[in-house]
Formats: sequence, structure tokens, C-alpha cells
Amino acid sequence: MEETTETIYESLREKLGGMVPDFELRYKAELAEQINRLKIEKNAVILGHNYMEAALFNSIPDFTGDSLALCREAARTDRDIIVFCGVRFMAETAKILNPEKKVLIPSAKAGCSLAESINAEDVRKLRARYPGVPVVSYVNTYAEVKAESDICCTSGNAAKVVESLGSEAVIFLPDEYLAKNVAMETGKRIIFPSKGPTPQAAGVDTRLDYEMIGWHGRCEVHERFTVEDIRAIRKQFPEVVVLAHPECSPEVVQASDFSGSTAAMITYVQTTDAPRYLLLTECSMGDNISAANRDKEMLRLCSIRCPHMNEITMEDTLESLRNQRYEIHLDEETRRRAERAVERMIEIG
Ligand code: 13P
Ligand code: SF4
Repeated sequence: MEETTETIYESLREKLGGMVPDFELRYKAELAEQINRLKIEKNAVILGHNYMEAALFNSIPDFTGDSLALCREAARTDRDIIVFCGVRFMAETAKILNPEKKVLIPSAKAGCSLAESINAEDVRKLRARYPGVPVVSYVNTYAEVKAESDICCTSGNAAKVVESLGSEAVIFLPDEYLAKNVAMETGKRIIFPSKGPTPQAAGVDTRLDYEMIGWHGRCEVHERFTVEDIRAIRKQFPEVVVLAHPECSPEVVQASDFSGSTAAMITYVQTTDAPRYLLLTECSMGDNISAANRDKEMLRLCSIRCPHMNEITMEDTLESLRNQRYEIHLDEETRRRAERAVERMIEIG
């Protein structure tokens, strides 16, 4: 069936009616029709992260998912252009895997506090301080950091990646909380070296009282959820089931009922039947889960938002396709080295 503004509007109304005002759905359907027409004309694919706002999420992406699923889709696509409705490190990962394709991100401002927390020189210093210890980098890093790493991981496979190395120790970068949560899950002792000294000043660290070496990066969204928030909500809604992303502190994860990637959180809600869930993650995902699970109530703390994910709008996505912006460019040597680390992760599954 040919897609028209009317068919898109009807499909949005079916999914989001009662959650989003009708006139806004009409407006979004008009935008979606233009985006989807251009997408076909230009032989583009749109990848949409689970944090995208509800109308965008439910109308224009060819694929939606968490970072891991979208990495896999980026590796598989045969289209000429990839438009990444997510943040820059995700679009960079798509470019790392598709050097010959044009990769676009609709906003040049969609960064990430984790990706900003570390650079290539930091990784080189850590390698000098812990010679021979393999480096695992969270995909929430820029290409220059991935290029210095042995393997990448996402929140969906972090423990599996660490264990796959079979190494006595690993350097795990850059998320302090994800590292602590993985250490807890895998039963490893973790240390956080001070940021300051050069390897020469610090010397080579030969202590053997660690199995993981972490970094000081934090997600500016997930670090703000507290055990107090959970207590207060459990008091008000005693039957609530609490889901926390593993970028939350270990204390918050311990006080929750479930922790997993954005995709794992969605599956958890779909496959359990509590009347009410608390989602400790970016607020928009609650709308997307609510839309797909109308019989279940999603509680969320929407005063805490990801400013980067919220940069991506349908208006900018249309401009992105029209004017081929903002294109991701990577230095070829960096891309090639980063590709090894990403592909190694994809091979693990
Ligand atoms: P996921 O890989 O779980 O989708 O998470 C990405 C992210 O940036 C969470 O803040
Ligand atoms: Fe980065 Fe946190 Fe935003 Fe995810 S939610 S993109 S980790 S700042």
C-alpha cells in the first residue's frame, strides 16, 4: 500500500492516540511523509535509537533498537546513505563500519557526556601504565578512543565481552558506573587510577589487587538517579517494578528489580505483567514503551533528560536528508583501527 500523509497519520493515531494531541500527530505525519519520500529517492536507511521521541520513533526509522542492535543494522545495510537518529558516537560507529557510505546525523550538537570524558591520549597513557592489559571501550566513545582499544562493548554485552577476553585484568572505559556494575556481575575487583600523572610519573602499576581498571566518565542523565528516588516511589506505589539502565550507580542498580540495556528494558516490560514500572533512563523511552503496552503504566523522572538525544527532531531529520547534513567524516587510519574493535564485538554476538 502506498504511504501517504493520511496512512501515516492513521498509523500514528493507532499507536499514540490519547498520548499525543491529534493536531500534532497530523503535523508529524506530514513531516514523516516528506522524510520517507526523500529516504526512498535517496536510497537512505534511517536508524532510530530507543530514546527518540514517540512520533519520530513510530514513523520514520527502518530500524529501531539499542546501540548494539543498531550497530548490527549499520553493518548489514546496503543503502547508500545512513541517517542516524541518535547521538554522534552512534553515527560514527555506523561510519566506522561503512566507510564508502554517506553517514548523516540530523544535529551537530548531539554529543554524549561519556564520549566526551576520554580521548585517545588518555587511553595511550593507561596502556603505558598497565602494559599488556587489554582495553575494552564502551561504544559511547568517539572513534579515536575505539581506535586505541582492543574491543568495544555496549550495555547489552559488556559482561560477556569482558569474560570473552579470558584475561587476568582488563581496562574498561570510560563509564565508572557501568564498569562497577560489570565488576559486580562478573565478581571482579576494580580500581580507578588517578587521572593526573603521566605514565612516567606514575610508573608502571604492578599491583595485583585488581582485575578491572576503570575510568571516571559518567552519563550526565543516569548518574542523577538515586536510591532515595527509588525509596520514595516504592513508598507511593508499593507494587512498582523498578528498571535501571546499567549506566546508573551500582547502589541504584542494586536497589532496582532489573537492570539492562534499553532493548532489554523494553523486552522486560513486554514479557512481564506488572501494572506499573519505574524506568530509570531517558524519559522519552517511557512514551515508546507506554505506546506499545497500553495496559501498563510507565513512571519516569522526566526532569532528568538527555539533552543530546533530544537534539534529534523530525524537522532536522528532513533537513538532514534534503541538504546531506551533518556528514560524519573520519580519518581513514583511525577508522580502520576502530573497525577492528567494533567488529570484534559484533563477532562475539
Ligand atoms: P543502549 O545501548 O542501552 O541503547 O544505551 C545507549 C545509551 O546511550 C544509554 O544512555
Ligand atoms: Fe550519553 Fe547519557 Fe545521553 Fe546516553 S543518556 S547519550 S550515555 S549522555
